Parts: sequence; structure tokens; C-alpha cells
Amino acid sequence: MESKFNNLGQTDLKVSKIGLGGWAFGSDWGEQPVDQSIETIVAAVESGCRFIDTAAGYGKGRSEQVIAKALSRLTAADSVAVATKIHPVMPGPWPPSPYCKIEDRYPVEHLEKLLDTSLKNLRTDAIDLVQLHTWTRAWNKNPVALEWLSEQKRKGKVKWVGVSTPEHDQNSVIDLMRRGLVDSVQLIYNLFEQEPAAELLPVANELGIGVIVRVALDEGSLVGKWTEDHSFASGDFRNQYFGGDRLQRTITRTKRVEKLLKDSGYSLREAALKFVLDHEAVDTVVVGARNKKQAEMNMRVMELPTMDSVLLERLREFNWPKGFWYSGK
Ligand SMILES: NC(=O)c1ccc[n+]([C@@H]2O[C@H](COP(=O)([O-])OP(=O)(O)OC[C@H]3O[C@@H](n4cnc5c(N)ncnc54)[C@H](OP(=O)(O)O)[C@@H]3O)[C@@H](O)[C@H]2O)c1
Repeated sequence: MESKFNNLGQTDLKVSKIGLGGWAFGSDWGEQPVDQSIETIVAAVESGCRFIDTAAGYGKGRSEQVIAKALSRLTAADSVAVATKIHPVMPGPWPPSPYCKIEDRYPVEHLEKLLDTSLKNLRTDAIDLVQLHTWTRAWNKNPVALEWLSEQKRKGKVKWVGVSTPEHDQNSVIDLMRRGLVDSVQLIYNLFEQEPAAELLPVANELGIGVIVRVALDEGSLVGKWTEDHSFASGDFRNQYFGGDRLQRTITRTKRVEKLLKDSGYSLREAALKFVLDHEAVDTVVVGARNKKQAEMNMRVMELPTMDSVLLERLREFNWPKGFWYSGK
């Protein structure tokens, strides 16, 4: 059987190929009971998860706290790498506008305050990976916040430094990678969003930068469990993400993928995760899970054999460039 682990780029973090995404544990996806989150995290680790992604902003630290609490109950906790993120000063545009100044959005006092809070929330003296939560290419000439984070490596508060891409301009972090300013990048790559295969993933591979893929299930659509009249809980950010006719258009496409997968032996969710893992640059995929069952099902994807190259090729046809107003129809 294939190994279930990768080194995250050139770091010393040994991560499971399927990791756990901690956004929903902050209750930004509607109410998420703490006990249910703890049960989910415990089940994920017991099923082989060795990488968890969270952020200072997920429920204002609630996700970080819940992860620390769950890990405190597990003997395998020391072998689980935890990554968090520092968001820019809010309120303010997200993604940052081209006119935002890095000194205003990521000032040192703010970075210091959030890092110290994350250290407390995660109950540790040194965080495995700290990522800036978003970016703009306007800051590439003056990446002072990343330089500040790298100094924290020397001080021992942070082991490795990364950046999470802005959704609309993921390639903006390529310059940072080339200049050795980050150990890892976190990016969106899935059956619909395949643009990173053009440049971002090949460059990460060439440079040996760690790659963490997020949103591999397109926020749940690539599970294939929704019908066109599906409604999201109040407080679930997907009310906006799939607003207007977007849910309906997305479901039309997921049905087409399911049609292709008929008789392949893969469910839509399994094929979506295997597709992402197939790229040689990808070290880990952080998949969000709301409950024990979802976490266990997702971890089991690491046990599936390599996907047939003909099927992989066919799945490339589902690339859907939604970013342009005139396309995606
Ligand atoms: N800017 C950033 O840096 C950024 C942005 C987004 C995400 N992230 C990170 O990436 C992680 C992953 O992304 P994501 O959580 O947004 O989306 P995702 O992984 O694409 O989708 C996760 C959701 O799909 C559903 N799901 C997952 N496994 C399932 C299963 N086995 N059966 C049925 N449903 C299942 C669950 O939602 P329901 O059951 O509620 O449908 C789950 O919360 C996040 O948790 C976060 O750590 C980072």
C-alpha cells in the first residue's frame, strides 16, 4: 500500500496525506457543538490524521481551543502537526485591496497579539506552522509581515512559516516562494478549480515548497449529497458562497462528474480527494469534517489505490473557471 504520509515540503513536519480542516469547529458554518468537534478530531487522529489546519479567526480562537482540548486526550498528539493562521486587521477588505498597506493590515503589534493568543489557545510553546491567512500581490515588494514571522522561528515561537492564497489571485504567492519567504503555501485546488496545475503547483514542486490543499470538496458540493432545494443552516457562510443560482449550477456539474464515475468504484467524494492527491506537488489535503463519521470516511481515502490515469485525465475536463464574469455558464 502507498505511504499515508509526506514531508511538508522541506520542513521536518511529517503530515498525513489527508489532514483535517478546522474551520467549521469555530461555528462559522452554523452551530457546531464543542463535544461534536472533539469527537470528530479524536476520530480523525485515531483513523490516521496527522495534520490539522485551523486559524486564529475561526470562531475567534474557538477552533484552536477545541483542537488543543481534543489533542490533550490523545496519546498520538505529539505526532500530529497543527497549523494555524494569522488574519489581517479587521474590519477591512478580504481579500486585501491593492491599496491596502501591509503595515496597516499586518502591523507588528497585531501579529504579536494574535501569535501569543494562538500559542495559548493551542497550549504550546512553539506552533508547527503559522500562515498568513491572506495576501495581495501589492505586498510582494514589501513582505515585512512574513519577515517578522520568520524572526519568530529564530525566537522559537514558530517552527515553520506559510501563506494562504487569496482566492482570486492564487498565483500572487509564487514570487514569495521563489524568494524563499515561505516554507509552505495553502491553496484551493479541486475538480472545479484546476488552475493551480498551470503554474502554482509546478513551481512549488520545483522549489520543494510544502503544499497544503484546501477546499478539495468545494465546501461540500463534491460530496454529492445536496439537491437543488438544499438550504444551509443560519450562520453557515455557504448561504453566500452558494447564493443565487450558484448551488443549482454547481449541482448540475457534480451530477455530470457522478455520471462519469458510475461503475468506476469511486464515490464523488473519494474521486475528488484522490484527484487532488494525485498531483506530485501536493503534500496534504485538509478536509473539513463536522462529525466522527465524516472524519473517518475521509481518512479512509488514504487507503484507496492510485487512481487510473485514464480516469484522472477525464476528470481534468471538469475544470470550471468560475472567476470570470463571462464564463462558468
Ligand atoms: N483562506 C483560507 O486559508 C481557507 C479558506 C477555506 C478553508 N480553509 C481551510 O481548509 C479546510 C477545508 O476546507 P473547508 O472545510 O472550507 O471545505 P471542504 O473541505 O471542501 O468541505 C468540507 C465540508 O464538506 C462536508 N463533508 C466533508 N466530508 C464529508 C463526508 N465524508 N460526508 C459528507 N459530507 C462531508 C462537511 O460539511 P457539511 O456536512 O456541513 O455539508 C464539511 O464541513 C478548512 O476547514 C480550513 O481549515 C482555509
